[in-house]
Amino acid sequence: EKGGYDHFMIKEIYEQPKALRDTILGRVNGDGVNLSEIKIDLELLKKTNKVTIVACGTAYHAGLVGKYVIEDLARVPVEVDIASEFRYRDPIVDENTLVIVVSQSGETADTLAAMREARSKGAKVLAVTNVVGSTISREADSVLYTWAGPEIAVASTKAYTTQLAAMNCIALALAQVRGTQSAETIKAIADAIREIPAQVEKVLAQAETVKAISEQIKTWDDVFFIGRSVDYAVALEGSLKLKEISYIHAEAYAAGELKHGTLALITDNIPVIALATQEQVFDKTISNIQEVKARDAFVIAVAQEGNREIAKFAEYVLTIPRTHPALAPILAVVPLQMLSYYTAVARECDVDKPRNLAKSVTVE
Ligand code: M6R
Repeated sequence: EKGGYDHFMIKEIYEQPKALRDTILGRVNGDGVNLSEIKIDLELLKKTNKVTIVACGTAYHAGLVGKYVIEDLARVPVEVDIASEFRYRDPIVDENTLVIVVSQSGETADTLAAMREARSKGAKVLAVTNVVGSTISREADSVLYTWAGPEIAVASTKAYTTQLAAMNCIALALAQVRGTQSAETIKAIADAIREIPAQVEKVLAQAETVKAISEQIKTWDDVFFIGRSVDYAVALEGSLKLKEISYIHAEAYAAGELKHGTLALITDNIPVIALATQEQVFDKTISNIQEVKARDAFVIAVAQEGNREIAKFAEYVLTIPRTHPALAPILAVVPLQMLSYYTAVARECDVDKPRNLAKSVTVE
């Protein structure tokens, strides 16, 4: 059932182009996005003055990207919360709030409880989930399914990238109903989304470079991930993935935060994985990379194809095809998933079933 792959995780990483195609199909067309399946009052989508996204783990990281893209395209403030925090703090939501819960399994106890809390306060809940018939899908006001297919490995991969696609679809849908973007902008993003599955295939083709990097980092006790804007959210996901399956201590920082403390930890040869896919903050990110280089860090960068600058500052550069900035995370996370995988394999870890973790956390 692993279809010739050594582990479910790597099989699922390679299934991402298909998972993304299936998730986009019928939703994103030449003019924009058709989300008539979202059964939430159009007036609320038009008028809402706050969106709250609630989730755990990797799904929370998808929510963080959601914040950037929804705020950017639909011009509505978005709060993102960890479900186990949200549910215990008498959250401020009401009938004018659109709450989005994100859960691969649709069964995570804290996310389910957070959803119930939000609904009891009158908020409308849109669930982004991968499992048809799951408890969250049954109790939500509306569901937007990710069509990733069954995800078996504990480490989430294809569920995450399809959640990112779903976030972009929601952002576009909100922008359409709220009239916050021109038809040309919407069309350009819709076109870019449709190119994503083939672009993921291109990223997957860099497996040999990723393997070589994992040979370098497998013996390290600490790895740092840095990035700005949506790249920061991707850094958090890359760091979680590495911790979860290779047991290497990893931390992610907004690159601009380095000098507020973390730089003290950067010494000779410490691996720093720098995400630099966002053009509007590229120069700022380069300054941060120079800060760690000056402390002799071992820099691995993820940047857009055709970027000539970055090679001067990094030992290795992993590239992603050019796309709209809001979509870059779907591409940029892929080499990080592979890096975690090959590092965990090199360390002889139980990749699909990391210690102490369960696929679906149905206890609090
Ligand atoms: O099923 P869910 O999406 O609600 O699960 C949330 C987290 O437990 C999950 O994403 C977890 O963080 C993954 N093991 C990370 O790879």
